[in-house]
Amino acid sequence: MEFNNLTVEIEKPIAIVTVNRPKVLNALNLETVDELAAAFAMLDANEDVRAIIMTGSGEKAFVAGADITEFRGKTAPEMFPFAKKGHDAARIMESMGTPIIAAVNGFALGGGCEMAMACDMRFASETAQFGQPEILLGLIPGMGGTQRLARLVGLGIARELIYSGDRITAQRAYEIGLVNKVFPADQLMEETKKFALKLAAKPSHALKMAKLAMNYGYDLSLDNALMVETQCFAQCWSHPDLEEGVGAFIEKRKANFHPE
Ligand code: COA
Repeated sequence: MEFNNLTVEIEKPIAIVTVNRPKVLNALNLETVDELAAAFAMLDANEDVRAIIMTGSGEKAFVAGADITEFRGKTAPEMFPFAKKGHDAARIMESMGTPIIAAVNGFALGGGCEMAMACDMRFASETAQFGQPEILLGLIPGMGGTQRLARLVGLGIARELIYSGDRITAQRAYEIGLVNKVFPADQLMEETKKFALKLAAKPSHALKMAKLAMNYGYDLSLDNALMVETQCFAQCWSHPDLEEGVGAFIEKRKANFHPE
């Protein structure tokens, strides 16, 4: 599959999706949002890919938001599909089984912060900055920020960031739970790859069940969420990885989850 605004590198068992519009700090135009959705759907279908890293090209930005040049002169009905497409791409990322790590190598603003939040976890360089600056343009986050930021850091801090439009450092993002790990810029990709390889070595069906139970259960009542967990838990018995993992424990040997 050819992309105009992304590169997709497959280094089995991981893949790296890089938003590649460095002249505009990797801002997301509509075509890029569509390409992200297509790239993640394609990688989800590739059984050789067991973990994915999303990052931005260049040294300055992960993604500096939606492409503001596409906003001028638009009408409300025209902008409805824009937000919808962003939501659809993020939902593909959240509902696919393969884990996705955002390697945030610079500005993650607006739609950049929102796409990073649709990843399973965020690793950042010390120089990264996060924020939802839409208010400064007279608008609000439209790719999930009003909802996902509160789910990750709590309503109080989400309000602070969305109402003020302030940018925060990687260190503050770490302190509020928006970021999982912070690394010196020159170590970010190496460390993220190490962790992606660690995830790729896990039994992929069980990891998928964990991801789906958490992502689909999170917004349900506890009773319904526990039913989702029950289904995903029981599904683990439908895959040979379970027999292998349990058998390896009992036979005191190393499990071989991914025989080639
Ligand atoms: N959409 C379109 N173009 C963008 C962009 C965006 N979200 N963010 C940056 N760019 C472009 C700039 O217009 C500039 O283009 P130019 O070289 O043709 O002038 C180029 O990327 C470099 O950005 P610049 O502003 O010169 O870099 P900087 O280091 O001075 O500032 C930012 C970096 C990220 C602080 C600043 O670009 C910015 O505030 N961007 C907008 C962030 C935003 O509001 N995002 C949410 C959008 S809803």
